[in-house]
Amino acid sequence: MKCLLVTGARGMLATDVAREFSREFEVKALSRTELDITRTKAVSATVARYRPEAVINCAAFTRVDDCESMKETAFEVNARGPLNLASACNKYGALLVHVSTDYVFDGKAATPWKEDNTCRPLNVYGESKLQGEIFIRQAFDNYIIIRTSWLFGLHGPNFIKTMLDLSQARTELAVVDDQEGSPTYTRDLARGIRDLMAANARGVFHCSNSGSCTWFDLCSFVFEKRNITDVRLKPVPTTSFPRPARRPSYSVLDNTRFAETAGYRLRSWQEAVTDYLQELERSHQSIRAS
Ligand SMILES: NC(=O)c1ccc[n+]([C@@H]2O[C@H](COP(=O)([O-])OP(=O)(O)OC[C@H]3O[C@@H](n4cnc5c(N)ncnc54)[C@H](OP(=O)(O)O)[C@@H]3O)[C@@H](O)[C@H]2O)c1
Repeated sequence: MKCLLVTGARGMLATDVAREFSREFEVKALSRTELDITRTKAVSATVARYRPEAVINCAAFTRVDDCESMKETAFEVNARGPLNLASACNKYGALLVHVSTDYVFDGKAATPWKEDNTCRPLNVYGESKLQGEIFIRQAFDNYIIIRTSWLFGLHGPNFIKTMLDLSQARTELAVVDDQEGSPTYTRDLARGIRDLMAANARGVFHCSNSGSCTWFDLCSFVFEKRNITDVRLKPVPTTSFPRPARRPSYSVLDNTRFAETAGYRLRSWQEAVTDYLQELERSHQSIRAS
């Protein structure tokens, strides 16, 4: 069986990626303690040891606001890390699949962002992720860079879980209504990554669930699905929640290149969220039962 390395294995996306590939590959899912991607020699030695067919890099410093005050760490993990992986993959003949973000764009658009549109990040997180992409492209050609957005999944904190938790404690919630993006289920993205690899794709791809909404729309949809009627939702502008990092106001990704290569589009964000809420409920039930 061919070997596949997954980095950042404890993360939300990595957990679903490892599961998605486990039937076809011998998956080595390495957490930060098992492989710190900022350590050049360790990265090279690990790729040399396993000689994987591909490395899927899900490791990242994802705390967008903390990146503003921890710029050095952000660039170490999100830029130097991918460079280390690209160098090792180049040396040992492995494909590098790297996950990037909609936050490489400045949000000043009215139509979905295409892969070749100019990147102008608004915050340190976006800058560091963009530098990671640049390092990979400079290192070699054997890569797939997948930009995605607004992730939610079973295995990590995310907006939907936060809002469900807050609904237990509050009777009114203010939610930002002037940022638009595409919520994306980590399970769907993991399948998208697998299908891009199966299609022998190379280059940069956008991959998100179809359609778009604001954080307010997303929260309203979740509360409706969960029949939460005792919490009043109030749409507010981004300026109501001053945060260290600026966010793009429009970061919807154009998935045409993905669709042409994989042969389909990821389902709508509404279908994905509905499925996710059912999975979340099932996982809570099994925790309660055990
Ligand atoms: N979440 C989103 O909304 C979103 C949106 C667009 C793109 N993305 C991208 O999607 C990818 C996956 O995101 P996610 O939400 O699944 O992230 P996540 O849950 O925060 O997982 C990231 C993982 O990387 C690990 N990590 C941090 N520094 C590392 C290092 N130096 N070496 C090895 N591992 C390290 C973390 O370990 P520790 O927990 O031990 O630090 C964590 O387990 C990332 O590339 C992210 O930039 C995410």
